[in-house]
Amino acid sequence: MVWERLIREELSGLVPYAPGLREEQVRQRAGRDDICKLSSNEHPDGPFPAAIAAMQAELSTLNRYPEGASTTLREKLAGIHGIPVEQIMVGNGSNELLRLIAQVLIRPGDEIVYPWPSFIVYPTVATMFGATHVVVPLTDGVTYDLEEILAAVTDKTRIVFLCNPNNPTGTFYGRDEFDRFLSRLREDVVLVLDEAYFEFVTAQDYPDGTDYFDGTRPVVVLRTFSKIYSLAGLRIGYGFAPAPLVHAIDCVREPFNVNSVAHAAALASLDDGAEVIRRRAENQEQKTYLYSGFDRLGISWVPSEANFVWIRTERPVEVFDALLEEGVIVRAFGTTPALRVGIGSAEDSRRTIEAFEAVVARLGRI
Ligand SMILES: Cc1ncc(COP(=O)(O)O)c(C=O)c1O
Repeated sequence: MVWERLIREELSGLVPYAPGLREEQVRQRAGRDDICKLSSNEHPDGPFPAAIAAMQAELSTLNRYPEGASTTLREKLAGIHGIPVEQIMVGNGSNELLRLIAQVLIRPGDEIVYPWPSFIVYPTVATMFGATHVVVPLTDGVTYDLEEILAAVTDKTRIVFLCNPNNPTGTFYGRDEFDRFLSRLREDVVLVLDEAYFEFVTAQDYPDGTDYFDGTRPVVVLRTFSKIYSLAGLRIGYGFAPAPLVHAIDCVREPFNVNSVAHAAALASLDDGAEVIRRRAENQEQKTYLYSGFDRLGISWVPSEANFVWIRTERPVEVFDALLEEGVIVRAFGTTPALRVGIGSAEDSRRTIEAFEAVVARLGRI
């Protein structure tokens, strides 16, 4: 087959990203309209009102290309974080930034170290650019062990990806552990701190990546507008990185990688800090409700700093299917003995516990 010769052979192990099921796909199967989509760590509410107004205002000028270098947004982020504009990058989702970082840093045979289970895009970009995967399993499948990550770093390591809090387990590493790790990490390794769920965190000892960012050390901090800001459908994320890395990424990214509606929405969203605080508190409240519901049902769960909860089950496929019948979409990871349950509205939480009650009644102990 000619395609086998034409397409780079290192890509042969890749499969397309499989998004969580959408409501339409489940409606018919469940025979009900009220579907709870808790499979993609999205926020249950729409974008902030000011963001919606800003997006609407942008529509009539879509005949023009967007601001090519995202300068207005980078300047705003610079002001908020006290970080120079040339150390800030904006991407078509933080996903794009993950790929661009690997694209400019990785030569075939370089090593990328990442924990597992974690965000699926780390192994994808490693494969895409011919890196050697160095996978560090989470302790008991859930807990970060930064000592183990450090032990996996060699002189061939180019990138370490850390996801804090971690998707899909919701676990986090604390400041002391991170300080010890960072003080011993080789200075020629690029440490990517993926903080997609940063705004949901309430733990006091969470190490905010921007506190460790000085623009010199090869530390990168990534954030997104997809989660607490409810702009997942728009695709916009940002990051802080030393200026030479931002420059290299600028040279290879698409000229207009972020659209003007996304710029407008992101700018407006950053003005509403009170809504971020409200959403964080609401997320916390819903998580607490789910924890107590799971306790009542004898379901083992892992404390989460994000907007999802990792529950343990020996029967993930059966439980996933049974929840679908109840109209609740969660996320399964093959036969990994766990499921990731997203945090939604108060109504979603009530329905989630009801669905689990029905599933436990049907299947027995899960
Ligand atoms: C850990 C992590 N990083 C990055 C992303 C990508 O976010 P986006 O590309 O929507 O900004 C996600 C999305 O789910 C994620 O879970």
